[in-house]
Amino acid sequence: MSTKKIREIYFSPTNTGRIIADAFSSSFNLIPSSLDLTRDKGMGEHTVLADELAVFALPVYGGRLPAIAVERMKRVHGTGGPAVLLVLYGNRHYDDALLELKDLAEDQGFSAVAGGAFIGEHSYSNSTAPVAEGRPDKKDLSLAAEFGVSVQKKLGLLSSPDERKDLKGLKVFQPPVIPGNSPYKTWTPPEGIAPETADTTCILCGKCVAACPVDAVKIEAEQVKTAAASCIMCSGCVKSCAVGSRSWNDPDIQKISDWLVATCISRREPELFL
Ligand SMILES: Cc1cc2nc3c(=O)[nH]c(=O)nc-3n(C[C@H](O)[C@H](O)[C@H](O)COP(=O)(O)O)c2cc1C
Repeated sequence: MSTKKIREIYFSPTNTGRIIADAFSSSFNLIPSSLDLTRDKGMGEHTVLADELAVFALPVYGGRLPAIAVERMKRVHGTGGPAVLLVLYGNRHYDDALLELKDLAEDQGFSAVAGGAFIGEHSYSNSTAPVAEGRPDKKDLSLAAEFGVSVQKKLGLLSSPDERKDLKGLKVFQPPVIPGNSPYKTWTPPEGIAPETADTTCILCGKCVAACPVDAVKIEAEQVKTAAASCIMCSGCVKSCAVGSRSWNDPDIQKISDWLVATCISRREPELFL
C-alpha cells in the first residue's frame, strides 16, 4: 500500500493553521480531505488509514497545545501512517508545543515524518496593537509549499516505486528531532474572561456564534450572549466579526497585548524539522 491521500487535521479558530496546512498540502499530488477539529464538537472517533498522510495543524497557547485541541486530537486514531506536525504561533515562541504535538501524534498511532513551527497573526493582534499582522504571508505560504516538497522527498513520493524501501511503498524514514522540554512547560489560562459585543453596532449575523469552537456564544432575545466560563479566549469570534463589534475589553488581555507589542515585534521566521 502506498500513500494515496492527504488528510489535513486542524484546530484553527482564527484560520492561520488551516491556511498553512492548505499551503503545505498544495504541493502534493494526492487526494485531499480535511477534518476540522475546531468545529468537531461531537464525540465521534476518527481513523486515519495507513495510506493517508496526516497533516496536523494546531495553535500554540502559552507555549503548549490548547487543552481542548488535545482532547479532540485524542479521538483521531492513526494506523501507523506518516504524519506531518505543524504549529502556528503569534511571533512570541512555540516553546514545547511542537514537541507536545509530535508526542501526541505518536501516542495516537502515527509515525512523525516532519515538523514545522509557523507564524500566524497573533490572536490578540488588532489595528491599534498589531502583532504578526497578516501572517502567514506570501513568503510563509511559499515556504510551507516548499516544505511539502521536502517531505515528499523524505517519503520517497517523488522517486519511482522500485526505489522505495518498505512494504507500505514509502522510504524508511527517521522521525524528526523536535526542540522542546519534557516535562513540558506549564501554562494556566486565565478563567472567566471573554470578548464582548457592542450591541449598538452588532448586526446579529451570527458569525461569532458559528466561529466559537466551544459554543460559548449565543444569540438570545436579539442580543449576543457569551458564557465567559466556557470561553477558551481563542478570538475566533473577534476575528470573524464582519462589522468590528466584537472585541476584548478585559484588562488582562490588554496587558498581554501591550507586552506583545513591546517585546514580540521583530519578525520571526518559520522553523522546519525533517
Ligand atoms: C490563549 C492564547 C495563548 C497564546 N499563546 C501564545 C504563545 O505562547 N506564543 C505565541 O507566540 N503565540 C501565542 N498565541 C497566538 C496564537 O498561537 C497564534 O495567533 C496562532 O496563529 C493562532 O492559530 P489559529 O489561527 O490557527 O487559531 C496565543 C493565542 C491565544 C488565544
